[in-house]
Amino acid sequence: MISRAEFARRRRELMDLMGNNSIAILPSAKECTRSRDTHFPFRQDSDFHYLTGFPEPDSVLVLIPGREHGEYVIFCREKDPVMETWHGRREGQSGAKKHYGCNDAFPIDDIDDILPGLMEGRERIYYEFGNHDDFDNKIMGWVNTLRAQVRKGANPPGEIIDLSHFLHDMRLIKSKAELKVMQKAADISADAHISAMQICKPGMNELRIESELRYQFANQGARFEAYSSIVASGENACILHYVENNAEMKDGDLLLIDAGAELDGYAADISRTFPINGQFSEAQREAYEWVLKANIKAIKAAKPGNPWSAPHDTAVKVLTQGLISMGILKGDLEKLIEEEAYKPFYMHKTGHWIGLDVHDVGDYLQDREPRILAEGMVLTVEPGLYFAPRTKGLDEKWWGIGIRIEDDVAITAKGNKVLTKKVPKDADKIEALMAKVLK
Ligand code: GLY
Ligand code: MN
Ligand code: MN
Repeated sequence: MISRAEFARRRRELMDLMGNNSIAILPSAKECTRSRDTHFPFRQDSDFHYLTGFPEPDSVLVLIPGREHGEYVIFCREKDPVMETWHGRREGQSGAKKHYGCNDAFPIDDIDDILPGLMEGRERIYYEFGNHDDFDNKIMGWVNTLRAQVRKGANPPGEIIDLSHFLHDMRLIKSKAELKVMQKAADISADAHISAMQICKPGMNELRIESELRYQFANQGARFEAYSSIVASGENACILHYVENNAEMKDGDLLLIDAGAELDGYAADISRTFPINGQFSEAQREAYEWVLKANIKAIKAAKPGNPWSAPHDTAVKVLTQGLISMGILKGDLEKLIEEEAYKPFYMHKTGHWIGLDVHDVGDYLQDREPRILAEGMVLTVEPGLYFAPRTKGLDEKWWGIGIRIEDDVAITAKGNKVLTKKVPKDADKIEALMAKVLK
């Protein structure tokens, strides 16, 4: 859990970066309709959550550094016994103050009357344009309300600055408490992957595995997946974002699982690939060993001082060597890398930042150069090889083999810590685990 003190520290840091004479405005996420009268499970906006921990829709955070009557303001739904009987509890303004520490709280329905007054006299508005569709117009509406009052002495803000520059740089560096939650999310996800390996057998449906993952996540307190689980057997693994998860799993095929739990808003993102019948075939193992080598070497390259692109460059080199060794590519290693000859079989990047969002925020480039890795950053390392069936010129023995091995890696002062190392990835260890079980 992230403490109230840590949420307060984040707001303080952001306000110090913003400086006085400014105001930040950040709306919560909205509820989304799934079908008539039903909604998708509500998920708070990650930026809003990062600064407040406040879990309700129809809310707006306002930070006003140096404001005498309180710097931290929330607009939210009022308490309403009838609505709460039907739809669930609400914090209301008193709960927002008492449980989330805001200095001032107002009903969301009063925002048009109150917010222009809070903006008045502030030079700069910090706001993320383009992320909250109809809210952009509201911001302009409030500014225009003040502009219309200039002759009466109003002083409207002159500048609107993208809030995400400061905020996303902060989110990129994880605190000790964040790393602890991420480790727990990774542990829960690891247990779920291990369970999946243990129950998997030919003839089972991919959906049985998906349900096992969900059960294991929820049973350890992680109610939601961080993203839709990918449970891809056989050639389905060659579809990178396969989420149908409804095919019968065949003897002799591999199963690629890409799944992670969300805990207290933080994501885990793990991929493992293993034989459905518990034993790799010769071709499967050969390809697997190259992906594993790429994963291990790329993780070594994820250390402070290295550019964020180092793991990708490392993985590309190992995988291209592998493709040559397997007889799939022919020619000079450096030249093949330069020509991106690996791309038909390795078409994605080797990782991304991970945190409150599975593809987390934070710039990948600084001054047009790959960002330098530093302590507190967390990224995935996820090389793969995908041999789609009927690929022209590709020996049939590779057809339908799709492999990805993905770990979550926290950069430390001297190197890194692999948060997801609890799930086996060594081919022999996977076979041993699968041989041991409760079939
Ligand atoms: N599960 C999405 C990804 O690996 O990036
Ligand atoms: Mn990933
Ligand atoms: Mn993944």
